[in-house]
Amino acid sequence: MAAYVRKLERRWLPRQGLGVTLVHEEEVREQLDSGELASYAVPGPWHLCTTSEPTAATRLFLAHVCEEQPGGSGGISHPRSPEGVNTRSGPGHILVDMTTTTRTNVPTLAETAQRMTGGGRGILAADESIKTMSARLEQAGVPASATARRDYRELLLTADGLSESVSGIILADETFGQQLDDGRSFPDAARELGILPGIKVDTGTTPLPGQGGALITEGLDGLGARLASYAERGAAFAKWRAVFDVPTITPYTAAVNGHALARYAALCQEHGIVPIVEPEVLCTGDHDLAASAQVTRLALGSVFAELDQAGVDLTGIVLKPNFVTPGLAASPATAQTVAAATFEVLRDTVPSAVPGIAFLSGGNATADVCEFLSELNAIPERPWQVTFSFGRALVSDALRIWAGDTVNVPAAQKALLDNCRSAANATR
Ligand code: 13P
Repeated sequence: MAAYVRKLERRWLPRQGLGVTLVHEEEVREQLDSGELASYAVPGPWHLCTTSEPTAATRLFLAHVCEEQPGGSGGISHPRSPEGVNTRSGPGHILVDMTTTTRTNVPTLAETAQRMTGGGRGILAADESIKTMSARLEQAGVPASATARRDYRELLLTADGLSESVSGIILADETFGQQLDDGRSFPDAARELGILPGIKVDTGTTPLPGQGGALITEGLDGLGARLASYAERGAAFAKWRAVFDVPTITPYTAAVNGHALARYAALCQEHGIVPIVEPEVLCTGDHDLAASAQVTRLALGSVFAELDQAGVDLTGIVLKPNFVTPGLAASPATAQTVAAATFEVLRDTVPSAVPGIAFLSGGNATADVCEFLSELNAIPERPWQVTFSFGRALVSDALRIWAGDTVNVPAAQKALLDNCRSAANATR
């Protein structure tokens, strides 16, 4: 907005980060007369001005105000949507006519993070990459295709009453751009169903050279522009997953992955999107509980050091860690032991400013992770909300039962709802 803002007096400058300011038409008369700003004729003394490349926060604001229907005391002539803003813009700037009906209920990052992790609900992770989802479909006997992936995700999202136990759904890029049978986009449908839409924005992992097979997560290049687009299309939150495993983690691999997570989180917040920060220590292997605790401590310590350096607002993130468990090939520990070990590591590494922690299931059985969560929830000195952000623990039954046949949709949805209810009950 540089050129335009420079022509305005200081008192009109928008608050840092919001990128929007309200001015009277007469205050921009010069710019209107010179053609620098465009005006649309509707009655009303106020105008909302923004550049042709508004920030995500501005777009969100516009989306809200533009939802107001004309006809009331303060109609908005156009645009009807944030997309319309750009197409109707003048040379570099636009002026949207409106009156005083501005809605001011855009939630803050902290409010969204609290909503995602509180209220006895959790997050459904349905963001498998095309490759992973295709492999899981094939395993269930369903030929993989964009349509099959869409049908399966539609089955999940439209399970009747899902929002009673699910606050948010993480989608993959493909699904985010797809439509339900009724023509609604997935993010729009999720919001209408009372579920916040989220988007996985990392592009997967690749080995770090010379680090014994340790991985780094990619996807930072161009991320700002992608986040702006996701925000415009309704994303409330995003997810980035860093992966560690017990044999290969080192302070260096923890630091570089933490660094990427922090850069991602800072960018998300800049675009009005709550970042889910996911440092996952894999539970494959035969390591014991103490090894899991040590490695999880290293990973979380590095991540929070990097988040601090990057200036990330901790009240506006959701942490998504693993439970501290023995490896899946080692003898299991009791749920009480897992909860106690998990709490000890989190207490020492996760600042109490973080509003909520949503755990991944990591290949553990549904009943086990629900018990872990229930035990953790029962620890009274816990400063953060704890809930689930499970993938497989919620959806595996549904996929197996569905097996690509429409006749099985009700039974598959029931299996999903049963698992979501069990997980939600563990947080209450
Ligand atoms: P699981 O619960 O299946 O581990 O998946 C959660 C997830 O989103 C991993 O990134």
